[in-house]
Amino acid sequence: MINEVSLSKEEIKRQFDYMSDISKIIGHGKKIFVQTFGCQQNEADSEKLLGMAEKMGYEKTNDPNEASLILINTCAVREHAELKALSIAGGYKHCKEKNPGLIIGICGCMVSQEHRKSDIKNKYPYIDFLIGTTLIHRFPEILYKTITEKKRNFVIDNSAAIIAEGLPVSRDLSSGSAYVSIMYGCNNFCTYCIVPYVRGRERSRDPEAVLGEIKELLNSGVKEITLLGQNVNSYRPLSKAQYGFKDLLTDICKLPGEAIIHFMTSHPKDASKELIDVMAKNPPEKGKIGISSRFHLPLQSGSDRVLKAMNRHYDTAHYKELIYYMRERIPDITITTDIIVGFPGESEKDFNETLDMLKEIRYDNIYSFIYSKRSGTPAAVMENQIPDEIKGARFQKMVALQTEISKEKNFEFVGKTVRALVEGISKTDDKKLTARTASNRVIHFEGDRSLIGEYVNILIENAEPHVMYGRQVYGKYI
Ligand code: SAH
Ligand code: SF4
Ligand code: F3S
Repeated sequence: MINEVSLSKEEIKRQFDYMSDISKIIGHGKKIFVQTFGCQQNEADSEKLLGMAEKMGYEKTNDPNEASLILINTCAVREHAELKALSIAGGYKHCKEKNPGLIIGICGCMVSQEHRKSDIKNKYPYIDFLIGTTLIHRFPEILYKTITEKKRNFVIDNSAAIIAEGLPVSRDLSSGSAYVSIMYGCNNFCTYCIVPYVRGRERSRDPEAVLGEIKELLNSGVKEITLLGQNVNSYRPLSKAQYGFKDLLTDICKLPGEAIIHFMTSHPKDASKELIDVMAKNPPEKGKIGISSRFHLPLQSGSDRVLKAMNRHYDTAHYKELIYYMRERIPDITITTDIIVGFPGESEKDFNETLDMLKEIRYDNIYSFIYSKRSGTPAAVMENQIPDEIKGARFQKMVALQTEISKEKNFEFVGKTVRALVEGISKTDDKKLTARTASNRVIHFEGDRSLIGEYVNILIENAEPHVMYGRQVYGKYI
C-alpha cells in the first residue's frame, strides 16, 4: 500500500515557473470559466485550479461565452453525474466553433477513469486537455504546453499518492466560510463506490500545513471552516506518530479567533467516542474556535446483511451506539446521513430495516441516493441487481418518511432564538438572507445585506422540512 509521497519542492517550483515567469504568462487579458460538479472536495480542487489560472494571468468569469479557457471539474459518483458532465462538455463544442482559439479542459473524478479518458480522447476532439485528480498541481504546465505546442494533453495517474502543498487558492470568502482539505483519497473500497479508484490512496496533510492555512483564513475574517476528507477519522499524518483527527481538532480549537469548524465525512467504523468527547469539550462559543454540533454519519443501509455486502465494516448496533453517545454528550446535535437505496440483492426486508433505522434515529436530514452501477467496482458485477422501478418506488417511500421527520424536527425550533452565520442572499427569495446555525440548519430572514458574513440571533417563526423562517432579534440565543 502506498502511504504518502509528498511532492518534491522542485516539482512545485517547476509549476510556479509556469505561473510566475513573465515570459510564460499566457492568460494575460483572458478569462477563465470553471464549472464544478460533485462534492466539496471538487469545489476545493476548483479553487486551486482557479488560483493557478489567476497566477497565469487569467481573470474569472461566470459566462462561458466570454471565456478563452473553459475548465470542467467532473464527478463520477453516480451515472447521472457523469452524463451531466458529458452533455455539458458536448455543449461547449458550439463555443469552440464560434471561438476557435478557445481552450477546453476537463479534470476531476470522471476523467480519472481510463475508459472515460479514451472516450474523451477519441470522441471529443474539441477537448484540449484532461488532468486526473491526483495531478491537478500540473495544471500550469499542461495548459502552457497545450497552448504553446498546439497539442492535446491527457494525463491521469491514479497510483500517484501526492500531496501538493503551497499551490495558490482562489476562494470567494464573502460568505465568511471556506473549505480546507485535510486529506485526500480513500482506502475503504466500499463495494459500490468509485471514489477510491479515481482519487487514489488515502494520504493526510501535515498538521502544521493545515493549521497554517486555517490561521490565514481566520486572519482574512473567515468564520466557518469545513475540514474535508473522504474519511476524516482516518486522518493520520506521516510526520507525527500517534496524531489523529481528534488531535487536529483539539489544536485547531486552541487557535485564537472566532469560528465554527465543520468536518466531513466520517466513516462509522472509524468515528470514535474520543472524537465526540473533543466536540463536546469545544462547543461553538462567542470569541472562540469551536466545533459545529453537527455530525454527518453515513449509514448507507439499515440492514447488517447489506452493510456487509457493501464492505462497510460496521453493523447497525455499533452505529446506534455512536448515535446514542453523541446525543448523550451533545444534546442539541444535528445528525444527518447518506443512504443508498437498491444496492444489489437488497430485499424488501433489508429496505424495511433501513426505514426502521430512520424511524428510530430520527435524523435531522438524509441525503438519499438510488444505487448506480459504477463500472470497475465489485457491486457492478454482483447478482440480483434491483430493477429501476423497485429502486424508484423504495426511494420515494423513504423520501416521504424522512420529509415528515425533518419537518417535525425543524418545527421543534419554532418560538426559539438561535445564533446563525449570515451566508448570503436567499436563492429562492432575493429579498431575504440565508443564515446557517452551528448545527447546519438553514434559516431565511429579512435583513440588511451588510449582515452577510456576520453572526446574528434569529427568532424562528415557521419551519419546513429543509428550511426555517425567522426574524432577527437581539438578546439570548439557545
Ligand atoms: N466518503 C464519503 C462519501 C463519498 S460519496 C463517505 O464515505 O461517506 C457520497 C455518497 O454518495 C456516499 O455516502 C454514498 O451514499 C453515495 N454513493 C457512493 N457511490 C454510490 C453509488 N454507486 N450509487 C449511489 N450512491 C452512491
Ligand atoms: Fe466511497 Fe466508502 Fe471511500 Fe466513502 S468511504 S469514498 S463511500 S469507498
Ligand atoms: Fe466527489 Fe464525485 Fe469525486 S462525489 S470525490 S467529485 S466522484
